[in-house]
Amino acid sequence: MTEPPCAKLSVFIASRLIDVVEARFESAFDVARAKTNHPLRELKTGENGGDRDFDAILFSLDVQMQAEQIKALPATIRALATYSVGTDHIDLEVARERGIAVFNTPGVLADSVAENAIFLILGAARRATESIDLVRSRTWKGWSPRQLVGFQLSGRTLGILGMGDIGLRVAVRAEALGMKILYSNRRRPAKGDRYAAGFRASADELIRECDVLLLACPSTAQTRGIVDHALLAQAKSELIIVNIARGDLIDDQALIEALRQRRIWAAGLDVFAGEPDLASAYFDLPNVFMVPHIGSSTLEARIGMGQILVDALLGWQLDRPVDNRVY
Ligand code: DGY
Repeated sequence: MTEPPCAKLSVFIASRLIDVVEARFESAFDVARAKTNHPLRELKTGENGGDRDFDAILFSLDVQMQAEQIKALPATIRALATYSVGTDHIDLEVARERGIAVFNTPGVLADSVAENAIFLILGAARRATESIDLVRSRTWKGWSPRQLVGFQLSGRTLGILGMGDIGLRVAVRAEALGMKILYSNRRRPAKGDRYAAGFRASADELIRECDVLLLACPSTAQTRGIVDHALLAQAKSELIIVNIARGDLIDDQALIEALRQRRIWAAGLDVFAGEPDLASAYFDLPNVFMVPHIGSSTLEARIGMGQILVDALLGWQLDRPVDNRVY
């Protein structure tokens, strides 16, 4: 943990976080919490603005920090700390142009997200939605050899699109379950990389060979909509698609059609385009196992995400190098 410097940074907390994290910010910094649902409007931005100057803003995925919002920030704001590993809600280029440092939360949430990926893979493979519906509807008639036959993971192939820290942690867990690991990544494997033999140069190559396709790459101009009609047309009929990254990697209509027509077998979804207003057809598909963006929702990850940002801001104030500085 970094030693606090004498003058405390002034931090505006724009998103509600768990109590223990807010308390850590309160003890490390001079903080004020947003009082409304439009937190950025509460900042001092001229005559109608708030009454305090802040050095930094702590916020999460519920606050957009695109060009428009960044350009309207008071000039005193020199740092943005996002309580997330993803940064697609931030215009990093504009932040950089304005000399604003950006910090995120890599690493500390990776185990939680990887465990959630395994949960989604298992839930989709073992028909969790139908199983839960059956037992909870009190209409279950008892055990039968034909009932809810799913797939075991052992002996099947997992294709990971985006082999970063999280992808790697899923690979290790899936391998322990007996799965073969393939992956595709922007960066080609280096000599000695653990799963180098499973590298495939494109998503097309990957999908043709795998039984489970896991989306674990960031949302970028190159990856948005990557799961589309053309990609799905190459899938095995038993394919399970799992998305733990961002909803906009998937063309929802293409996936819904493929699932409805049983051209692929199932999907496990943690994230959705346009959250929380997901495509309503997903609700009618029994072969979709879905949860509401809970990948990093564990106490361990949440606390780690707070601490890494406290340390980052303290280090930044002391002009020390900070590993989780995005810009
Ligand atoms: C992230 O951190 O980007 C997740 O999507 C939420 O924890």
